[in-house]
Amino acid sequence: MTKEIRHTSYISRLQTLPKLDSSSKRTLLCSIATDITATFICISKHIENGTLSDEHTASIESVIDIIKGTEVSQRQMLERKVKRYTRLARRLKSEREWMRREFGELVKQADAVNLRWKKRVRALEVLSVDPPIDTPEEEHNRPNMSRPGDYDAVRKDIIAQLKKPDYDDGSAGPVFVRLAWHSAGTYDLETDTGGSNGAGMRYEAEGGDPANAGLQHGRAFLEPVKEKHPWITYADLWTLAGVVAIEALGGPSIVWKPGRTDLVDDSKVPPRGRLPDAAQGAEHLRAVFYRMGFNDQEIVALAGGHTLGRCHIDRSGFQGPWVNNPTRFSNQFFNLLLKLDWKPKTLPNGISQFVYVDPEADEGDEPLMMLPTDIALKTDPAFRVWVEKYAADKDLFFDHFAKAFAKLMELGIKRDEKDRVINADNVKGGYISAPKKSNHPTGPARGAQGGCPVSAAAQGGCPRAKL
Ligand code: HEM
Repeated sequence: MTKEIRHTSYISRLQTLPKLDSSSKRTLLCSIATDITATFICISKHIENGTLSDEHTASIESVIDIIKGTEVSQRQMLERKVKRYTRLARRLKSEREWMRREFGELVKQADAVNLRWKKRVRALEVLSVDPPIDTPEEEHNRPNMSRPGDYDAVRKDIIAQLKKPDYDDGSAGPVFVRLAWHSAGTYDLETDTGGSNGAGMRYEAEGGDPANAGLQHGRAFLEPVKEKHPWITYADLWTLAGVVAIEALGGPSIVWKPGRTDLVDDSKVPPRGRLPDAAQGAEHLRAVFYRMGFNDQEIVALAGGHTLGRCHIDRSGFQGPWVNNPTRFSNQFFNLLLKLDWKPKTLPNGISQFVYVDPEADEGDEPLMMLPTDIALKTDPAFRVWVEKYAADKDLFFDHFAKAFAKLMELGIKRDEKDRVINADNVKGGYISAPKKSNHPTGPARGAQGGCPVSAAAQGGCPRAKL
C-alpha cells in the first residue's frame, strides 16, 4: 500500500512547517491532510480485514507528536520575539525622553505659535459676513434678543421706530436716510478711505462735523434697535435703516448687504469737509460725487432723496421742506424743481436759499424750499437732462435711485465672492461691533439759536453731535 509508505514523509514535511510563509504553509497542510485522510481509509480497511497492526497507526501518532512539538517551538519563537520587542520599546522610550529634553523648548514655541494662529483664525471668523451664532445658553440669557443674522427682525424694529408724531413731520424716516447717506458719503475713491464701514459718527471727529448736525436724532432713534439686536454693527444698522425707511415711505426696494464693522477708535475717521456744501453749485457737486465714483446721472438720481424730509435752521442753517408731503417717497422733487418759480431768499441767519411762496397759501403756511445745489441741477445742462427724465418718469427715477443708493451704501466696502466683507482694516483688527451708546441725542438742541450751515464748517462754532 502506497499510503503506508508515504506516512514517513509527514515527519520531514511537518518539520519544515515553522519555516514556511503562510501560503506555502496552507498548501503543505492541505497535502498532508489529504495524505492523512488516505491513511485513515487505509487503517479502516485493515480493521475490516482484521489485519490492523501498530505499524499502521504509527504514522498518525508521529503526526500528533510533531504537531505538539511544532506548537512548542512556535511558542518559543514567539517568546523570543516578545523579548526582542520589549527591548526595542525600552530603547525607543529612552530615546523619546532624550528628544523631549533636547527639543522641549522648540515644542513649547511651536505650541505658542499654534495657539496664536488659532486665535487669529477665530478673530477672522468673527469678522466674516456670517454673524456669530449664540450658544443656546447665551440665547436663553437674552430671551428678547433676536437670532444673530436675523436682519428681518432688525428691519421690523426699524419700521417700528419710524412713526414719531412729535418729531418733525411725524417720521424718523428722512433723518434715517440722511444718516445712511452721510455715513457712506465720505468715501474717496483715490485714497480708498471713508465710506460706510466703521460708523465713525460715533466719534466727535465725524459725529461733530457740522455737516452731520442733526443726525444724532437719527442715531438716538436707532439705539433701542441696537439694544434689541446687539449683534448688529452700527455701520450695518445705519445703512439698513436708510434702506428700510426709503422702502417703508413708498420708495423702491434697495439691495442691501450686511457685514460692515465699527471703528474701535477715531484714528481711521475720514477728514471733515468731504460731504457736499449746499451753498455751492454744479461744479462742487461734481467734485464731491465724482470723488466717490458717481457720474452725472447718478448725482441727479441721488439728489432726488430730497423728496423726503426738510431743512432745519438749527442744523444746516437752511429752512423748510422740498415738497408738500415730505414723508412720502416720490419724484415730486423733480416735478416741483422744474415747475415752480423759485425765488432766492436770504434767511435771518444770513444764509441764502430758494423758496416758492404759493399765492393761494394761508398766512403762516411754510413755503417750499430748494437748496442752491438743488437749483444747480436745473440750471446745469447735463444735470437738467436727467431732472426732466425723472420728473416725467417716476419708474425710471425709482429704478435709477435704487441702484445709485445701493452703490452708495457699498462705498468703501470690499467683498469676496461669497459677499463677505474683506476690508484690510477689519483683518488688522481695526473694526469690530461697537457696544450700544446712549438712547438720547446729545447734539444741538432743537430750536437753538443760529444755524449750522454746511458752508460754515470751516468757521467752527457749530454744536457737536456726540451720539
Ligand atoms: C447733492 C448734494 C446734497 C446736498 C448739498 C445736501 C444737503 C442737505 C441739507 C443742507 C439738508 C438739510 C439738513 C438739515 O437741516 O436737517 C439735507 C437734508 C436731507 N438730505 Fe441732503 N444733500 C445732498 C444729497 C443728498 C442725498 C444723496 C440724499 C439721499 C439720497 C439726501 C437726503 C437728504 C434727506 C432725506 C434730508 C432730510 C433730513 C431730515 O429731514 O432730517 N441728500 N440735505
